[in-house]
Amino acid sequence: MTEAILLVGGKGTRLRPLTVNTPKPMVPAAGVPFLTHQLARAHAAGVDHIVLATSYLAEVFEPYFGDGSSLGLSIEYVTEDEPLGTGGAIRNVASRLRSGPDDPVLIFNGDILTGLDIKALVDTHNTSGADVSLHLTRVDDPRAFGLVPTDPTGRVTAFLEKPQTPEEIVTDQINAGAYVFRRAVIDEIPEGRPVSVERETFPGLLSAGAHLQGMVDSTYWLDLGTPQAFVRGSADLVLGRAPSPAVPGRCGDRLILPTAEVAPDAKLTGGTVVGHGAVVGEGARITGSTILSDAVVEAGAVITDSLVGAGARIGARTILAGAVVGDGARVGPDNELREGVRVWCGAVLPTGAVRFSSDQ
Ligand code: GDD
Ligand code: MG
Repeated sequence: MTEAILLVGGKGTRLRPLTVNTPKPMVPAAGVPFLTHQLARAHAAGVDHIVLATSYLAEVFEPYFGDGSSLGLSIEYVTEDEPLGTGGAIRNVASRLRSGPDDPVLIFNGDILTGLDIKALVDTHNTSGADVSLHLTRVDDPRAFGLVPTDPTGRVTAFLEKPQTPEEIVTDQINAGAYVFRRAVIDEIPEGRPVSVERETFPGLLSAGAHLQGMVDSTYWLDLGTPQAFVRGSADLVLGRAPSPAVPGRCGDRLILPTAEVAPDAKLTGGTVVGHGAVVGEGARITGSTILSDAVVEAGAVITDSLVGAGARIGARTILAGAVVGDGARVGPDNELREGVRVWCGAVLPTGAVRFSSDQ
């Protein structure tokens, strides 16, 4: 038996313009709530018991995933009264674990899309005899992450969460948000108060001489912290670049979910997803984008690397590039919305209200 804790308690505020009432892990990626991909990958790696540690909009998880049996899992839910931070959330579910003191327990951040070989991480943990093993990945700019330098054997020498100064940036290896803990280490985290595993537990373990082992793995890895990353991740799932057994359908250039209506001459490419009940009009061109359920894209709209929220409407000939349009928003015809723009849920933009190009 292998068990895992999934941390899904963050507020996900950076996705807020998109979804008022949907917690980030439940926003559909490649047609199913993002969390489904993490659960299905864990199951495929031999995990059979999962404890979901939640603190925010917790009530939406259990009705959807139930006891987990449809995914071949046994899922339990634990809701914090107040957010306990990553370490506090882990400690808070310790009583639900079934593992013995020396058994490995997997822990996953709930906002990561990755092709990590989960079994290899557990094997590394077991052979190295570490107290904690961490999946590490390399990024160009590590400032938004936990920096994890290692010695030549992969043993972790420091943990620097969100390094600020250039002197702190001593490596391009970062914490990729998947760990194996020896069960007894979880029980030693202080109980009943907020604890950051990154700022308190890992540095504390290191200064006490504990063995933290890093496993650098250069497989697909994406932090879905921003709407733009979310769109990218969804497209990569559809294209098959990010492996997941939970993609509903064959991987390819597009995923059109049942009950969506797409005009025959509309062109959908680059991992575009069209959700249930959504409508795409004649001549629309959509690339690398996510159109959530019941949204309408009118004729001739051109949408690239963008996210269109549930029930939103994109007017005829409107151009979206790197845009996020929240649930229920209405963007009138002949608008042009580019890089980084976020249209709030329910907002209304009249015809031709925003343009970048000249008036011609
Ligand atoms: N249950 C619970 N309670 N979960 C929480 C809480 C809490 O109070 N706070 C955060 N989480 C969950 C989040 O939902 C997310 O899945 C995970 O813990 C990490 O928290 P984030 O808030 O997303 O942290 P981050 O993205 O800034 O940094 C973390 O992830 C990076 C990789 O993406 C850190 O672990 C970094 O070290 C790491 O590099
Ligand atoms: Mg995060």
